[in-house]
Amino acid sequence: MKTSSSMALAGAMILTGGLAQAADPAQGEADFKRCRSCHEVVADNGTAIVKGGKTGPNLYGVVGRTVASVEDFRYSESLEEVGESGVVWDEEPCGLRRGPDGLA
Ligand code: HEC
Repeated sequence: MKTSSSMALAGAMILTGGLAQAADPAQGEADFKRCRSCHEVVADNGTAIVKGGKTGPNLYGVVGRTVASVEDFRYSESLEEVGESGVVWDEEPCGLRRGPDGLA
C-alpha cells in the first residue's frame, strides 16, 4: 500500500534526518503550527497544551519517550519496529521540520 511505504520512509527520515539539529524554542513553536493539524499535545492529566488533530499520536513528553509508545495510537509497522528496538526520542523531534512532506 502506498501510504505504508511512504510512512516507512518517514520513519527512516525521522531517524537519520535532523535529530541532531540545535533546538530553538521560538522557532520550534512556529514550526509546530505545521504539526498541529495532525498532532495534539495533551498532558497526562488531560490538560490540552496544544489542541490539534488526531491523525498523529499525542506528542506530549515525546522527548525521552520510546518511539511509538502512545498506548492507544495505531502506528505503522515500520515505526512499531523502531519502537520495539527500544529507541528513545532524545532531542526536540523538530528535526522533523520536514514534517508534513516527510510524513505524509
Ligand atoms: C499529515 C499529518 C502529520 C503532520 C503534519 C505531522 N505529523 Fe507527526 N506523525 C503523523 C503520523 C500519522 C504519525 C505516526 C507515524 C507512524 O505510525 O508511522 C506521526 C508520528 C510522529 C512522531 C512519533 C511519535 C511517537 O510516539 O513515536 C513524532 C515525534 C512526530 N510525528 C512529530 C511531528 C512533528 C514535530 C511535526 C511537525 C514538524 C509533525 N509530526 C507533523 C502525522 C503527522
